[in-house]
Amino acid sequence: SWVMKDYIETAVARIREQVGSDEVILGLSGGVDSSVAAALIHRAIGDQLTCVFVDHGLLRYKEAEQVMEMFAGNLGVKVIHVNAAEDFMKHLEGVSDPEQKRKIIGREFVEVFQQESAKLPSAKWLAQGTIYPDVIESAGSKTKKAHTIKSHHNVGGLPDTLKLQLLEPLRELFKDEVRELGVALGLPPHMVYRHPFPGPGLGVRILGEVKSEFVGLLQRADAIFIEELRNFGWYDKTSQAFAVFLPVKSVGVMGDGRTYDYVVALRAVVTSDFMTAHWAELPYELLGRVSNRIINEVRGINRVVYDVSGKPPATIEWE
Ligand code: XMP
Repeated sequence: SWVMKDYIETAVARIREQVGSDEVILGLSGGVDSSVAAALIHRAIGDQLTCVFVDHGLLRYKEAEQVMEMFAGNLGVKVIHVNAAEDFMKHLEGVSDPEQKRKIIGREFVEVFQQESAKLPSAKWLAQGTIYPDVIESAGSKTKKAHTIKSHHNVGGLPDTLKLQLLEPLRELFKDEVRELGVALGLPPHMVYRHPFPGPGLGVRILGEVKSEFVGLLQRADAIFIEELRNFGWYDKTSQAFAVFLPVKSVGVMGDGRTYDYVVALRAVVTSDFMTAHWAELPYELLGRVSNRIINEVRGINRVVYDVSGKPPATIEWE
């Protein structure tokens, strides 16, 4: 829209004035906020921006490739892709407690980001995709803390030992405005209107200990679910939808043989604020199709179940 074009011009001028000829670092996660911030800042200062994309190996199917293709490929943004999957997996070995996993992933993330940032000593600014609701939330965090059930380690948390000034060009925007801005900057709508994805990623969607074998199975099951949701026109009717890996084996039958494989649960919810949520009343035809495809295409999974729990008492994620 015209309004958005004017907004971009103003925001670009402001960023240029703020940073001058300085170098800027941004932690790119592939999420909406950091992506839009990267696109906007790149529009303003081009190669003065370097993005650091810490890939913890717990992203969705082909997500890392897509982020690289979009930013480094299409937009020509300087992106350092840090493939830290092995590193994260090693730290998660033997850990099955959900909060412990969140802490490890969050801590490791900051550490890898700091190590990479240290390689760019000329940078003076740290850019973040902080949006207006984040500003309000952190202002009220003292009172809110007591009500937090799960510790959220969002990718891109501020490493405060870095002596950098903060650049937060989305601070005044609501989520809808950030999305609109993203589209106006040329980001593909399917990326900008994607369901929210937790910082610890598949780390909290593989119940118990995270193993790389499980990551591969879950990524493929989840991709099938999302693809079929889109095919059936249900993606935008749900607020969040994903597959969960259950490290439980059950008996199945295939041809003349018996199988003894893992279970995947499908979760889809409708909510306006993520504080309460209803399970989505997906058509049986869609559920049947997803189940058939997962069992036929993902060897290692022989059973698919659908989660019909509301929040409360269940949470949206299983961990
Ligand atoms: P729950 O499972 O608590 O989730 O009903 C509510 C919303 O928060 C997301 N979520 C997280 N996001 N880091 C995040 O960035 C986390 O550790 C985390 N845990 C849950 C969840 O995906 C849902 O949108």
